[in-house]
Order: sequence, then C-alpha cells, then structure tokens
Amino acid sequence: MASFTTLTFPCLAAFSSSSPNSPNSPLFFSAPSQFLLRKKPNQTRLRLISCRSANPNNNSDDNAPSLSRNIDRRNVLLGIGGLYGVANLAGTTIASAADTAIQAPDVTKCHYPTDLPDNADVPDTCCPPVPAVTISDYQLPADGAMRTRVPAHLASDEFIAKYEAALSAMRNLDPSHPHSFTQQANIHCAYCNAGYQQVDFPSEVIQVHNSWLFFPFHRWYLYFYEKILGKLINDPTFALPYWNWDNESGMTMPNMFMTSTSSLYDANRNANYFPPAIIDLNYAGSDRGLTDDELIKENLVAMYRSMVTNATTSDLFMGQKYVAGDAPDPGQGSMENIPHTPVHRWVGDSVNQPNGEDMGNFYSAGRDPLFYSHHANVDRMWVIWQQQLGGKNFTDDAWLDASFLFYDENENPVRVYVKDCLDNAKMGYEYQPSALPWTNSKPAASSTAGLAAASTALSVADVFPVTLDKAVQVKVARSKTSRTEDEKGQEEEVLVIGGIEVSADQYVRFDVYVNDDEQPAGGKDKPQYVGGFAHLPQKQQSSTKTTTSLRLGLNEVLADLGAEDEDTILVTLVPTVGGGVVNVSSIAIEYSAK
Ligand code: C2O
Repeated sequence: MASFTTLTFPCLAAFSSSSPNSPNSPLFFSAPSQFLLRKKPNQTRLRLISCRSANPNNNSDDNAPSLSRNIDRRNVLLGIGGLYGVANLAGTTIASAADTAIQAPDVTKCHYPTDLPDNADVPDTCCPPVPAVTISDYQLPADGAMRTRVPAHLASDEFIAKYEAALSAMRNLDPSHPHSFTQQANIHCAYCNAGYQQVDFPSEVIQVHNSWLFFPFHRWYLYFYEKILGKLINDPTFALPYWNWDNESGMTMPNMFMTSTSSLYDANRNANYFPPAIIDLNYAGSDRGLTDDELIKENLVAMYRSMVTNATTSDLFMGQKYVAGDAPDPGQGSMENIPHTPVHRWVGDSVNQPNGEDMGNFYSAGRDPLFYSHHANVDRMWVIWQQQLGGKNFTDDAWLDASFLFYDENENPVRVYVKDCLDNAKMGYEYQPSALPWTNSKPAASSTAGLAAASTALSVADVFPVTLDKAVQVKVARSKTSRTEDEKGQEEEVLVIGGIEVSADQYVRFDVYVNDDEQPAGGKDKPQYVGGFAHLPQKQQSSTKTTTSLRLGLNEVLADLGAEDEDTILVTLVPTVGGGVVNVSSIAIEYSAK
C-alpha cells in the first residue's frame, strides 16, 4: 500500500497522473524538481507545480494549488470509510460507484498563465472577470428564432457583412468586458491551459480536450459566442457559418475569412495554405506534395474513418471517460483526433510564429475567427453522427452532470450542464445540410489473409515500451477470432494504444496501419490505413509531458482485410512528426460493447 508523506511547503505541490490503464495514484514528495520523474515505467508519473509560474496579476491570491487544498481523489475515497474500496498502486481499479462529474470551475481560483509555451503572447491573464453576481444554472430559452448555420463557402454577401459587423462590435468592446473578443478567445485558453483546477481536486486541472468533454464543452462555447454576436447586432437569428472541410467544395480556408481588412481576418495563419490550397485533414506539419485530387481523396477517407470505422461506440467517437479527480488527457475520440487537430495545425502559422499561433496552439486558437467555424463543423459532425449514423451519446451521470461556466449574452455568469446540450434543436440552432461525400469513401477491400502468420515481426512484449523514432511493426494477438455477425454487432474490436507519452509542447502525429509493410507505402486511402494520432501543443511550464491513449475500431478493417479468422494481426505505427519525442507503452486488442 502506498504511504502518503505530507509536505510543508505551502506552495509546492507534487501530484501524479497515471497511464490510462492504472488508477490515479497521487503521491506527495519533496524532490524540488521541475521535471517529470519516472517512478516505474508506464505506471505513475510525478510532476510539480510551483509558485514560480503563478501570475501576480491574476484574479485571486489563492491561485496556486496549495498543499492544504491538495486533497486528492484517493484520500477522499479513503476518507469516506472505504465505502468504495481501496485502490493500490499495483493497478487495481477504484470502484466506479465513486465517479462524479467534473464541475464548473471556481473562477475566483483561476490562475493563469501556468501552462504556456515559451514566447507565448499572453500579456496578462486568460482568466475571465470574476462575476459580481451569483452564478446561476442556465436555462435554455423555451422559444425564439431558429439559428441556421450555413456552410461558410456558400455564405451570402449580406450574411458576411452581418458577421463582420458583429465581430467588429465584439472586437471594439473593452478587453475586460466578458463579451469582448479578447475574453471570448481567453475562454479557450483558460479551459485548455490549466487555468482552472478541479473543484474538490485542486491538484488536477480542468482540461476540455483529449476526453469525453470535448464535444459538449465546445458546443456550449460556440452557443454563447453565437448568441453574443447576435445580441451585438440585435439579430437573434444570427448563426455561425461552418467550415465545410468534409466536402470537396469547402476544403480551402473560406474566403470570407481571407480579406485582410475584415474583422474576420487573422494575420497569424500559414500563408502557404491560403486559397486555393486544399486542406490536408491528415496534416502532419508539412506539405506532402500531393495533388489536389489525392488530397481530396485522402481527406474523404479520413472522414470515413473518423465518422464510421472508428465511431462505433460512444468512447471511440467522443473520447475517453474523464471524471472528477482524474488526471487530464485520457484520450481523444476519433473526430477530435483527426481531422480536428490537424486542421488546427494546418491553419496556424508555424512558419513565422514560435508556437504555431494562432490556431496551431491551444492557448491562442480562440483568437482566430476561423476557429469558431472550424468548431461549428466539428459540432455538426456530432449532430450527424447522432442523427444520421446512429451514434449514441454516453449515458453516464458523470458525463451528463459535468458543467462549465460561461457568461451568457446578457452578461450573466451561468453554469451549463452537458445534459442540456444534447439536442441542437432545443438549443435553437440547426445546420443547413451539405452533401456528405465521405459516406461513400470506404477504401476498397483487399485480402491480407495469412500475412501476419507468415511475418517474422516481433510480438508486442518484445518491442514495447518503445520510442517512436522510426516506424515500428509488431504482431498483436487477438483473443476472439471468426466472430459471427451477431457477435460483431454486439462488440467492437478495439486496438488500444496506451501510455502514449508526448512532449506536451510539440505537434505530434503518427499513423496506424494493419497488415501492411514495415514501411507502409502509398497514400492514406487504402484499407490498411486505420487512423492516426494527433496532439496539438498545449503547455510547457508545469509539465513537459502529456500521457494519453488512442483507440481505433477494427471490426470493419479486419473484415476488409480478410483477417477475421487470424490469431494475430500486424500493426505498424509510423511517426510523421514529433518522432523521437513519443513513447508508447502498450498496444493490445480489447472488445467493447456497442
Ligand atoms: Cu478547444 Cu479545436 O480546440
């Protein structure tokens, strides 16, 4: 059993986060290191937060996580009489009865910046104004005009003029006004760069990416941004345009954002990719020299993989469970991973800006008006998945009851819940339909039967943990073979790549192929291409590493590769950017209920 040693430094707290497969195992210790320490490979990592990074100009004198408030989840569990059982460091899981939702942050304790890249351009803080009135639970208006979000590339001149006027008005507000563009952009920064600590678990930050909070947080964020813009021009029907990057006709930066004198413009974008450059939804940090037709084809396959192949369960599509007391970043869902993250990096200016600002780094992404149209399309994908592809949202209370804090269009500070954002129509907005060409973009089947059995590739245990400084191929065992249609309908076979440790401040991409060569050749439009991993840079000071996981659905892929009867499959991980800074601890096949 672990022993907990208590520190006396008031402002130096150590905490740990664990690999996705082990329980949270917070420890307090006194080593004054700023750096991540490896205790045991792939088990527990320890990191420090110190006063050094606390901003003297922040909203609170109680800003840095202090030891007295450092009551971690384990201690809470133990403190209530062992009701939920006792966890140990060897990896026993804590009974899930204790799972509670991550709560809206206590804004008076917002401390920012703590997790910023070097040379980040943050003059003061990303914390919102402290509310002068009591925060209330937000009620969705019962009536009101429907707001119809249209594809940005099809927006009328009249609409563009309206959006420009609204955003100019927003930009003209005093930066301290909760409706100002500065404050709207800062919302992203505070929720993504360790501005907030978890209520009751101050040693853990709130991170709205890389987990099941991704879709609902961004839906609420856009909801208020849109309502505020409408209020500023006195038009309650104002609706955000969506960047229709999943359709060939929308695969460039939309023109409405490209006029340098417009309020919709942002100078911090990669000029190499201005229109007519076709977006690369698999973007790995550099131009791949593909023709437009090749890019479009790969883009549509990437969409198919994220929306269909890798979207058969709630967690595969929406991201991994993340509850109160958990370390952040348990794992992105398919849509957040690709194309959402590569789109950020493709737009951001990684040529002239130190950290790929604005879109290419979490702290600055909200400063580009294009961000909100990018996320409108991400949100639209959630609607399509649910309403047209049969996707099912989580039903866990720990998801439904999760809450966030925003200022509404009337400047009231409000608490909003995930459970209230599950129906876009009830929220008063809808998407003007646009064709979904990717539904027909499944790569053609091609048999690889017998390939893995004949291969001399090593097995997982002989290779992992591994540093991805080059392509790595392993044989992965399957415990269930030749499943019936019924069994496959019940359970998705999931490739779980665990303990992915990345340098938090780097853009990282790797791709995953099944039953392919050691160095997979050709494009990402073949049946062996299963999906990939993308990590957007997010922080540097309090921790140099982020540990997360990737899950990919195999049912359809193995059928297409004629590999359903095989005991093993060959998996190749190919780093495309960030190689050498990625360690991966495990790879295995699990079966999850659909
Ligand atoms: Cu909050 Cu696209 O990131």
